[in-house]
Amino acid sequence: RTKSTNNNQWELEQFNKAKQIGVLPTNLDKVNLPDSDKYEYVFDDSQFVNYNDNEDDILKGDDEPVPPPPPPPPPPTVKDIKISSMDQVRKSLPVYKYREEFLDAISKNQVLIVVGETGSGKTTQLPQYLHEAGYSTSKDGLNRKLIIGCTQPRRVAATSVANRVASEMDVKLGHEVGYTIRFDDNSGDDTVIKYLTDGMLLREFLNDPTLSKYGALMIDEAHERTLSTEILLSLLKDIIKTRSDLKLIIASATINAEKFSKYFNGASILNIPGRRFPVTIHYTSNPEANYIQAAITTIFQIHLTQPLPGDILVFLTGQEEIESMEESLQESIMKLGTSLPNQLQICSIYANLPPDMQQKIFEPTPPNSRKVILATNIAETSITIDGISYVIDPGYVKQNVYNPVQAMESLVVVPCSRASVDQRAGRAGRVGPGKCFRLFTKWSYYNELELNATPEILRVNLSSIILLLLSLGVNDLIHFDFMDPPSHQSIIKSLELLYSLGALNSKGQLTKLGRQMNEFPIDPMLSKCVLTSKKYECTNEVITIISMLGESSTLFYRPKDKQDQANRRHEKFYHELGDHFTLLNIWNEWVDTDFSSQWCQDNYVQYKTLRRVKNVKDQLTKLCKRSGINLNKKSDSFNPLYIQKSIIAGYFPNVVKLSMMGDSYRKLKSTDGQPCHIHPSSSIHSLKPPPKLLLYHELVLTSKEYMRNCLLVDEKLVKEFSSHYYSLKDLNQISKTNK
Ligand code: CDP
Ligand code: MG
Repeated sequence: RTKSTNNNQWELEQFNKAKQIGVLPTNLDKVNLPDSDKYEYVFDDSQFVNYNDNEDDILKGDDEPVPPPPPPPPPPTVKDIKISSMDQVRKSLPVYKYREEFLDAISKNQVLIVVGETGSGKTTQLPQYLHEAGYSTSKDGLNRKLIIGCTQPRRVAATSVANRVASEMDVKLGHEVGYTIRFDDNSGDDTVIKYLTDGMLLREFLNDPTLSKYGALMIDEAHERTLSTEILLSLLKDIIKTRSDLKLIIASATINAEKFSKYFNGASILNIPGRRFPVTIHYTSNPEANYIQAAITTIFQIHLTQPLPGDILVFLTGQEEIESMEESLQESIMKLGTSLPNQLQICSIYANLPPDMQQKIFEPTPPNSRKVILATNIAETSITIDGISYVIDPGYVKQNVYNPVQAMESLVVVPCSRASVDQRAGRAGRVGPGKCFRLFTKWSYYNELELNATPEILRVNLSSIILLLLSLGVNDLIHFDFMDPPSHQSIIKSLELLYSLGALNSKGQLTKLGRQMNEFPIDPMLSKCVLTSKKYECTNEVITIISMLGESSTLFYRPKDKQDQANRRHEKFYHELGDHFTLLNIWNEWVDTDFSSQWCQDNYVQYKTLRRVKNVKDQLTKLCKRSGINLNKKSDSFNPLYIQKSIIAGYFPNVVKLSMMGDSYRKLKSTDGQPCHIHPSSSIHSLKPPPKLLLYHELVLTSKEYMRNCLLVDEKLVKEFSSHYYSLKDLNQISKTNK
């Protein structure tokens, strides 16, 4: 397992540097060949991650015998080939055996809870069964076309499943089968099966409070307990009383089913046993300090010691982590070269992955090779990938966490729940007995992990959802029929924020501004910026900035061998007022090149990201026009002050000031709050002296609380836009620091 390359001092240094910062597995070593100027790369397997080897930790499979392979199809005509094989695949799914039972249950019940192992075919098949059984035509004698809707908490799941079902039905995506996710509607007048995010269905209540277009709705992945899904369930519980023709299916993995049934007054539960083989669980003997490193080593460990076929699924926390791991893996694979016994093919899946790239994970693994899929917890239950025999689970997930006391919301990587790591392990047992490598100890599993994840409603900022509920006429939030009611404190904090944004009046009623804010499917703080920009005639710039902010974490790239050059290019865009203007600079230059991809390459900016930004901006432009906001023409000399004003009008709660020591920032309101730091990726990160006052777009908690995307503001602006929010004492603090 070695490979020789030319020796070179510089390369050796680079290699050691890379090893130090952890981009190469530490057990990939460079060894000088005796009496030669050549060296070898050696993969030292004595440094494998140490797992316990007791095999009594087994996630039990079911005792169902392994189903025989489907019979060979009769010789098909060319035209039939595609359809008949698809048909066979459909019939081989566990859910198919329950088709009649399902249709029978739904004809007798308005609400049905369907519980089934991931991969049994719920998401792709049940909507088709409903369509085939005629639920897409109204039964009132008018034969109106009705939609069968299926919600997904995740965008990727909605698009990839719609894609799959369209090909199963042999129709073009966007016609009979379509999807709707935020800023991307791929459905039409002829759509009968529609996959959409839970958040998008929620917004449909605004225009159609009884969801009259739908004949049946499947609320999928209900066990995830996302905020939007839960609010949907509450609203649906209410409207089914008047819409007796609407069928409601709540689909969930095995957790939580009883709770849903109870919430819907004892609704029937249909159980669909999936195929499941036993999975052996391996824990590390000791806690792993660097789970990325340990995961990379484990991949090689599996690859070198375990038989083929058998693909590997690795659970990571987000796109950045996935991308950097992919890069280190590719690098190691290249270095090891032909010394690897079989090929390793890396692919990834995360929320922002463009649809054409998503398909790659579903392609069969070629012979003599092993696929490694780097995934976020999308692959936990939303998306099923066939052929996985090994799961590597560091045991972490990225979540939005809101602290109502400090009114701070932050993206945090937290340990998963036990329910969730067990789900992940189960992914290894779909094609045969599997193995799961947990990068944490058995002790930690039993003593440190929570039993179940906290539902989102109990941990995120509710202002967006409350604004929506108020628009739907739900005024009494304290007595609203939540499955798990959020704390009064968090409701009150959200109401306070909406009031300070001007969305509510002092009686807690929605204002005209609040109604206008709801026209935009974005955070209320952002929609306030858009609506304010109208007055300053800089809407064009403000919606550009907003579109860029949403995608900013994947905008720049720095190839390992050209880091300095890439940094220099990026610095050219830096604006002294901060990231909002830096982002605007990038956009404007790109527009001037007529959306050139060459320009992106030259400047180390991701073309794909900018295309997405363009799409988002186009959608926001349409929404502005619909709300009667005319976009100003793009001008070369925009007035920065007006843009600052528009942004601070929505983001005054996120103003922070430099601490006396000058080493961190704190929110104006809570002087004893968390100290925050400017994110290293920010264009004002190295500004000297550090700015006294700024506002941040979002907080990311890693080793420290980091502010990502910062905008400089001054005392005058803060006073002009937030004297209603801060006390005089808070505001006087500013001048004190400014001395
Ligand atoms: O919803 P559930 O987890 O029960 O299963 P599903 O998502 O309906 O998946 C059923 C089958 O369709 C699995 O074997 C998947 O691998 C396959 N599928 C696919 O090939 N491509 C997709 N985009 C989605 C599902
Ligand atoms: Mg599913």
